[in-house]
Amino acid sequence: MIVFDSENKVFYLHTKKTTYAMGIYQNKILLHAYWGKRLNHPIHNDYVEALRYRPLAPVDAAPYSTDMLPLEYSTFGSADLRYPALETKYRDGAYYTRLEYADHEILSGKPGLEGLPATYCEEGDKVDTLVIHLADSLRDLHVYLSYSVFEDLDAIARSARIENRGEKMEIGRAFSASVDFVGVDDMDIIHLDGAWVRERYITRRKIVPGTQSVESRFGASSAVHNPFFAVCDSTATENVGNVYAMSLVYSGNFIAGAELGAFNGLRAYIGINPQNFNFVLEKGESFQAPEAVLVYSADGLGEMSRIYHKLYRTRLCRGKYRDIPRSVVLNSWETTYFNFDENTIIELARSAKEIGVDTMVLDDGWFSTRDTDRAGLGDWWEHPKRLPSGLGYLASEVNKIGMKFGLWFEPEMVNPDSKLFRAHPEWALHTPGRETTPTRSQITLDFSRDDVCDYIINAISSILDRANIEYIKWDMNRYMCEVGSANLPAERQGEVYHRYMLGLYHVLETLTQKYPEVLFESCSSGGGRFDPGMLYYMPQVWTSDNSDAVDRLRIQYGTSMVYPYSSMSAHVSVCPNHTQRRTTPFKMRCNVAMPGQLGFELNLGKCTPEELELSRKTIVRYRELEDVFHNGDLYRLRSPFECDMSVLQFISEDKKRVIVCIDGQRGLFNGPDEYIKLRALDPDAVYTCNGKSYYGEYLMNKGIYHQNNVEHLSIMLEFVKE
Ligand code: GLA
Repeated sequence: MIVFDSENKVFYLHTKKTTYAMGIYQNKILLHAYWGKRLNHPIHNDYVEALRYRPLAPVDAAPYSTDMLPLEYSTFGSADLRYPALETKYRDGAYYTRLEYADHEILSGKPGLEGLPATYCEEGDKVDTLVIHLADSLRDLHVYLSYSVFEDLDAIARSARIENRGEKMEIGRAFSASVDFVGVDDMDIIHLDGAWVRERYITRRKIVPGTQSVESRFGASSAVHNPFFAVCDSTATENVGNVYAMSLVYSGNFIAGAELGAFNGLRAYIGINPQNFNFVLEKGESFQAPEAVLVYSADGLGEMSRIYHKLYRTRLCRGKYRDIPRSVVLNSWETTYFNFDENTIIELARSAKEIGVDTMVLDDGWFSTRDTDRAGLGDWWEHPKRLPSGLGYLASEVNKIGMKFGLWFEPEMVNPDSKLFRAHPEWALHTPGRETTPTRSQITLDFSRDDVCDYIINAISSILDRANIEYIKWDMNRYMCEVGSANLPAERQGEVYHRYMLGLYHVLETLTQKYPEVLFESCSSGGGRFDPGMLYYMPQVWTSDNSDAVDRLRIQYGTSMVYPYSSMSAHVSVCPNHTQRRTTPFKMRCNVAMPGQLGFELNLGKCTPEELELSRKTIVRYRELEDVFHNGDLYRLRSPFECDMSVLQFISEDKKRVIVCIDGQRGLFNGPDEYIKLRALDPDAVYTCNGKSYYGEYLMNKGIYHQNNVEHLSIMLEFVKE
């Protein structure tokens, strides 16, 4: 619900549990007034009055200084000397933009963001949007801040559109959200960081004076940092404490951080990384910043995650597969690598069918001259020796077995050793006169170009039109360097990174709309681009190339800070594990993969009869439980970052089924006893598990008995409410 108190000039954005408020100060300056627990009465204006003049502060909003005030969208060059949200440059060399409130409108529902992924609403949702128009009358520059309030889902989606009606100018940064907190003492910042095969580990650190931020300059959101951060009480835990989180619906370069100033004012911000970003706006042009999703939780990190999970699962992911059970795949990569032909794939499909897998996915190696990873990317037609009868034939053979057929692509890349590159070297990102540095022998296609995007749309369409492909794994296996586009003039080279993302989003939008029956999975050397932007087009992501069950406990747990288990692809693979050689029990591998989108990635022909039987049972059990894993609520009971175990509790939407997943790492022989307390049960109801009955209050206050005494202990319990 959005309320404008016109007398006091205060906007109230209410969700079920939270309120976000802004005031128009002196009829012109838009101030941030409040973000936190839902308020049912008007705020006091001491958020302004308390901020008295400080010696040496420039007094530009007498008797105050904008350097002291909590600004809603700050600009560089003004008397506000903190890290700005907007940076502009005019042709006369001036930087300063002074934004003043012009007007506002309240819309019911939520408009889309042109060319960009964003959360959306459906008929019947309680969602309204406030658009506040700020203007610089000298430059005729206009900023439209929009706030969509998801009342029932407890989230606010923010973005900014910059419209230039004056002379040609440039934007050096345009953040999606910036929030000024006043009087911040003893707070932490939390973000998700890592590397290839170690994605989204949780980092928590104390906020200290100065700037603390994470960013990507990789051309992809990256495995190194994720476009998310949360500021929280230093005492906040999974279940208690104030948490203020921001997540960016974007897959390219970003920055997310907070600057703590001299008087405990904290400016938190998220948006496109200003490094290598410079956007030229001719008169009449505008720039749309991506969407930031703001979530406040008064009940710790667990509640924050549950809000993101539900919003992203139901109002960011789209398409046919958003709400229905998806495929259980057998993926050929770790199964055969480049060592296969069409008969191998047909045989694998047969063996997969026997254990209940429904989709055979042919990974890398099926096209042009792709005998190793050094050639062929860009040439999207069948490898003549491996697939002599073509993809149409292979897909129909797999279909005859009663399986669906899926295919891997890496559309954004080209090998210098390819027909495509030889014909169009200018189609790759490059800096004139410089060598382009390859990674894995490949360089990046310039998706800021329409001709490149059209080529890829046509190449993929032509395959989808001639073979019955029902699943696509969309991979992207390198970060970008020496970034430049042959298609853009010198003054627009600072637009390439963002225009690349716009091109990619256009290609994904076109293909996903054209082929609504295809389930798309995103991948970037595993989880190198696991972000909300990608989830808008593809509802699941190959979480990590690391499928070792112990490592996956941490990767999946960290990922779950923002992203639902329904978005995490998780495969059972062979041991010793191919990435880090650890051996874990088959049962643990199955149990750890099950809450995600279950799949297999191993040669079933080499499995023991016991392993095959367990695989079969796992798929049956998975089909029984997936609704709870994917549509229920998650409570994290033990963190593998803090102890030797991961304990997750999933509770179904109707609250009748509860799954507890307990996975140990090393175990401690003759170790201590412990009780694990469950959450969110009905205290007065009886829950049954393995023939034993418990009251909810007992399970929540005493808990379930547990001994973590064996290496790689893995238990999955189901409690059913009577
Ligand atoms: C990346 C992916 C893998 C696999 C290979 C194929 O590394 O993450 O799953 O598809 O590429 O080359």
